Amino acid sequence: MIELRSLNSSDINAIAKYANNFNVSQYLSSRMPYPYTREHAQWWVETGSKNNSTNFAIDLKGECIGVVGVRYGEHETQYSGEIGYWLAEHHWGKGIASEATSKMTDYVFAETEIVRIAALVYSPNTASMKVLEKCGYRLEAIRQKAGFKHGVFLDEHAFVKFRP
Ligand SMILES: CC(C)(COP(=O)(O)OP(=O)(O)OC[C@H]1O[C@@H](n2cnc3c(N)ncnc32)[C@H](O)[C@@H]1OP(=O)(O)O)[C@@H](O)C(=O)NCCC(=O)NCCS
Repeated sequence: MIELRSLNSSDINAIAKYANNFNVSQYLSSRMPYPYTREHAQWWVETGSKNNSTNFAIDLKGECIGVVGVRYGEHETQYSGEIGYWLAEHHWGKGIASEATSKMTDYVFAETEIVRIAALVYSPNTASMKVLEKCGYRLEAIRQKAGFKHGVFLDEHAFVKFRP
């Protein structure tokens, strides 16, 4: 149904449109700002997405409807990665994030030497936890009140999957 492919400048408008949604940004790291402007999207596609990470467009019929990426550790964490993803809200609930996360996980284990992929999910984000469980990640730890966003402390659920 979907395909993962490299990001390019023709994705900037779609990313700016779909990421500028409170429901999308609510439980993401504030590294991804909200409101999310075209300038943010342009910087991210051209510069930010290339920084020690692999990021792919989630492509549905030629349109970028979200992003999935893995950031690589450095130094002693060089064999670890952290996966993240978001999807345009009108495509939620169709299994797309699970398919994208599964494909990205397989890609990282096949194409890199990473042995451990982690995913950090804030406690209210049950849909994201479900995605990870469906992709074979398991809950490793709950770090209570590790996050603080929109005036509320959030428990961070750390999921992990190891190289098979
Ligand atoms: C989290 C997100 C990526 C999920 O995308 P999606 O394509 O809708 O996910 P999927 O359809 O693959 O799977 C979601 C699963 O969670 C379930 N789910 C959805 N909302 C739920 C909720 N509120 N409570 C419990 N389960 C829920 C779905 O039923 C589905 O499970 P199922 O296949 O067993 O029915 C999407 O909601 C999103 O982009 N959110 C904003 C960004 C974000 O939070 N990213 C993750 C940061 S850790």
